[in-house]
Amino acid sequence: MKVHHIGIAVKSITKAVKKYELLGYKVEKEIIWDKQRNINILFMTNGTERIELIETVDISMESPVKNLLYLKTNMMYHICFETNDIIKQITQLQSQGFVIINKPDKAPACEEKTVAFLFSRETGVIELIEVRGN
Ligand code: NI
Repeated sequence: MKVHHIGIAVKSITKAVKKYELLGYKVEKEIIWDKQRNINILFMTNGTERIELIETVDISMESPVKNLLYLKTNMMYHICFETNDIIKQITQLQSQGFVIINKPDKAPACEEKTVAFLFSRETGVIELIEVRGN
């Protein structure tokens, strides 16, 4: 499956951007506030690969990356794979031991495309994004 992006949980997008710029990445679009998930998201690309920087907005509230704030370093949080049929893909992965942690839902930071999160011990957290005509 084609990788859409690598998601990285960061304490501060502003600080992390500067480091990834040194590694050849450029900001792809402005920071998107995902109110429902209590996170800010910024996509960067080096022309070939894309990374997603994710920070918690209000640390007094829940967010998918809140627990990672207590770690000393920023860390990779998920790899996102493209699929042209997210429901079929989820069913297939579930039959192979993946557990769904976030049901398919629209992602404001990805032009409202449908995304879902799954987990297995062997892969950690993965994300699926439905990309039509793939
Ligand atoms: Ni992602």
